[in-house]
Order: sequence, then C-alpha cells, then structure tokens
Amino acid sequence: MALREAPSPPILALEEKISARTAVIVVIGMGYVGLPLAVEKAKVGFTVIGIEQKVERMEMINAGQNYISDVEDKELAELVATGKIRATDDYSVLAKADVIIICVPTPLDAARDPDISYIISTTKEIAQYLRPGQMVVLESTTFPGTTEEVVLPILAASGLEIGVDYFLAFSPERVDPGNKRFTTKNISKVVGGVTENCLKTATALYSQTIMTIVPVSSPKVAEMTKVFENTFRAVNIALVNELALLCDKMGISVWEVVDAAATKPFGMMSFYPGPGVGGHCIPVDPFYLTWKARQYDFHTRFIELAGEVNLQMPLFVMEKINKALNQAGKCLRGAKILILGVAYKKDIDDARMSPGLEIMELLIGAQAKVIYSDPFIPSVTLGSDSYASQILESLAIESFDCIVLCADHSAYPYEELAKRSKLIIDTRNAFAAFAGPNIVGL
Ligand SMILES: NC(=O)c1ccc[n+]([C@@H]2O[C@H](COP(=O)([O-])OP(=O)(O)OC[C@H]3O[C@@H](n4cnc5c(N)ncnc54)[C@H](O)[C@@H]3O)[C@@H](O)[C@H]2O)c1
Repeated sequence: MALREAPSPPILALEEKISARTAVIVVIGMGYVGLPLAVEKAKVGFTVIGIEQKVERMEMINAGQNYISDVEDKELAELVATGKIRATDDYSVLAKADVIIICVPTPLDAARDPDISYIISTTKEIAQYLRPGQMVVLESTTFPGTTEEVVLPILAASGLEIGVDYFLAFSPERVDPGNKRFTTKNISKVVGGVTENCLKTATALYSQTIMTIVPVSSPKVAEMTKVFENTFRAVNIALVNELALLCDKMGISVWEVVDAAATKPFGMMSFYPGPGVGGHCIPVDPFYLTWKARQYDFHTRFIELAGEVNLQMPLFVMEKINKALNQAGKCLRGAKILILGVAYKKDIDDARMSPGLEIMELLIGAQAKVIYSDPFIPSVTLGSDSYASQILESLAIESFDCIVLCADHSAYPYEELAKRSKLIIDTRNAFAAFAGPNIVGL
C-alpha cells in the first residue's frame, strides 16, 4: 500500500459527501447481501440505487415489496416511498454514483472452479462510467487477489489514477441470514484498500452504518480473511460430521458428546452435525481458495477433505432412511416420504445447494413417493420437475412411511409430529425431547 498519500481534491469531495450522507450509493446485485446493505445505508440518509438484473426483483423493490427475510417489509416500503431506495437495470445510473458496491454472485462453475464472470462483467460496466471522486467496493466473496489482479486492471484502463482520482477496496460481507443477534450493523467489518486513500474512504463509508471497522493492510488480506472464515466453518462442520459417522457405528450419541464437550470453558467451540452443508457460502467459498492455491503449486488438503466428508452426509442420511424402513418391513422404492425443510438451514428462505434438496432428489431417484413441506420455500425445481411445498397441517401425518427432517424450522409442531409419525429420521436433533422408537437420529 502506498504510504502517506496526499489527500487529493476527489478524496476530499467524496469524504465530505460521505460524512454529510449526501453521497449517492449504487449497489449492484440486490440479493441476500445487496438488499439489506442498501436498506442500512438508506436508513441513515444516503440515497441508494440498486442495479438488479432480475426484472421481478427490480419491480418488487420499486413497488416497496420485500423479498429478503432479513429486511423488514415496512422499512423497505418506507425507504422506497420516500425515494431513498430505488432499483433499475440500467447501468447508466453509475454516472450519478459516488460510491459503487458490488454484491453479485460468485458461484462455482461445472468444473467446481470459481466463476467470477459476474464480477468481471459488472466491473466492465463500472469502467465505462468511472469518473474522479468515485469509490468502488467489492463485497462479493472471492479468492485473494481478485480486487487487485482482476478488478483494478479493468478500472485502471480508464486512465484515472487509483488512490488519487478514484478509490477501490474489498470489504467482505459476513451476514448470517436469519441471525437476529448479529446483523449488518453490529458485525464488525473488515476493509482492505488498494491504497491508503482507498482504505480511508472505504472506512469513512462503512463507519456511517457499522459499529466496528477492522482495517487491514490490503484487499488481499480482506479477501483471504473471508475465505478463511468460511473454510473454518466448513472444516469444523466436516469434523463433527465425521464424528457423527463414527458415533453411529459405536452406538454413541454425537449430540450428547458435542453438548458435553461444550461445557469446557476454553479451547472448544461447538459445531453440530447435519445432513450436509448448503447455501451460497460454505460449500462454495473454500474452493475459491483451493483454485487460487493451485497457482502456487499448493494443495489445500483440509478443504478437499472437508468437502468430501460434507458431501457424503446426504448419502449417510439415505442409508439411515433405508435401514430404518427395512427394519419396519418397508422398501424404499414406493415408500411414502415427507421431507420437512428444504432450506439449507433453520428459519431461512434459501434452498441454494441445500442438502434437503439433494436428499429429496436421491429419494426420488430411488423411486420413493416424495413430497416436501417448508414454510419458507414455496416451490423447488429438481431437473425438469417442479414441486410445490405442502401445507403441513393439511397432511395425514400417520400415512407417511417416513418423515425426514432436514431443516429444523421453529414453526414445526415437533411434539405432535413425534406422536403421530410412524418413523422420523431426525438429522438435526430437533426431536431430542420426544425420543421414542419411531425417532432415528444421525
Ligand atoms: N448469502 C449470504 O449469506 C452471503 C453472506 C456473505 C457473503 N455472501 C457473498 O455475497 C455475494 C452475493 O451473494 P448473495 O447471496 O447476495 O447472492 P444473490 O444471488 O442473493 O444476489 C445476487 C444478485 O445479483 C444479481 N445480479 C447478478 N448479476 C448481476 C449484474 N450483472 N447486474 C446486476 N445484478 C446482478 C442477481 O440477480 C441477484 O439478485 C456472493 O459473493 C456471496 O458469496 C453471501
């Protein structure tokens, strides 16, 4: 990072607009990350324009309708009604922006390599409108080096000078969807700027809405921090999943072990086993690091192993279902099965890469008769077939050969289900209080 940069006129102007909250913020990608971020910024007075390529999302925002559960419906409606937030699919609004925040997806491609095409295409759009006094912040999770090796060269082609005319930083989003205790406001924010002025302006921006800012020496450090955090989770979940496989063989309750270990007041942190990992982060982000590591002839063994163990979990659940049905004298083929919860975790409306969906697909492949119920996920598509969520209260629970609990949503009537079901495969220990011969845990 260049040290002791003089404050240029563009930085002074931008800092003034940020502190007066008159800066116009454009957020690109109004999804799970972008929409809550837009709301936080608009709530403190900034004017926020969201660029969203999905027309239905863009129209919903402009109608004041919310589609992300972490956002309050009323709050969004008010901010839209007062003109503080609007959405468009027209990139020319970038000309008006003082701050541009990129929140587009960063999936894996078919070969499980990083697909940063969304970041690249968005940056190319920004480059067309780049002018002195603008700051660009990348929030999408990505491999270390993306900001300086991919984004910066595209912006630099404009001929403007980084750290003097315009500013570029990486600041990862750490939001945990559905978590009411830790939200965008009180989760500390790591920020890495390409130059000292970039860090300064990005810190000035985020400190308007976030309680604690953690400045680091470069975008690379910030990028690595984010992938490390998610790798930490992936590895620890894999460890406890592996323990679950062993405990199953040894006739020990893994849940009891984890709870007992959690009483150690130091050096221990609880992770719980489950049917596998899902969502846009844990199954994806560690492989961004694996890919980057290959450029250094480095093999990320923990990541590969964790991926392998976690991917095995839906198959382990299938084994459990098969075995339990056999013991009840039933065959998996033709068995009537209800999946409870296809979201990738409790109380959220996201089914991306969800283990519940994978288990559903495996069961359908085995010719079981499968339906699902999830109050957060109205419908899902598997291959070319669509399935609608069934209303749990309308179902004859006693008629199912097996219920498989994949996401332990708070709304489910656990006690009643335990009483009325023939067989429950409980992948989340949600029926612990109602143990009986019909409840089979991991
Ligand atoms: N979901 C999470 O919990 C979470 C948490 C932390 C970090 N992240 C990271 O944040 C990034 C965004 O994730 P998300 O969950 O919000 O994804 P998302 O799919 O919910 O939202 C991304 C949005 O960007 C839009 N989009 C894609 N390309 C676009 C383009 N060229 N122009 C305008 N809009 C475009 C999509 O239509 C979508 O609405 C990813 O890198 C992800 O890894 C996600």
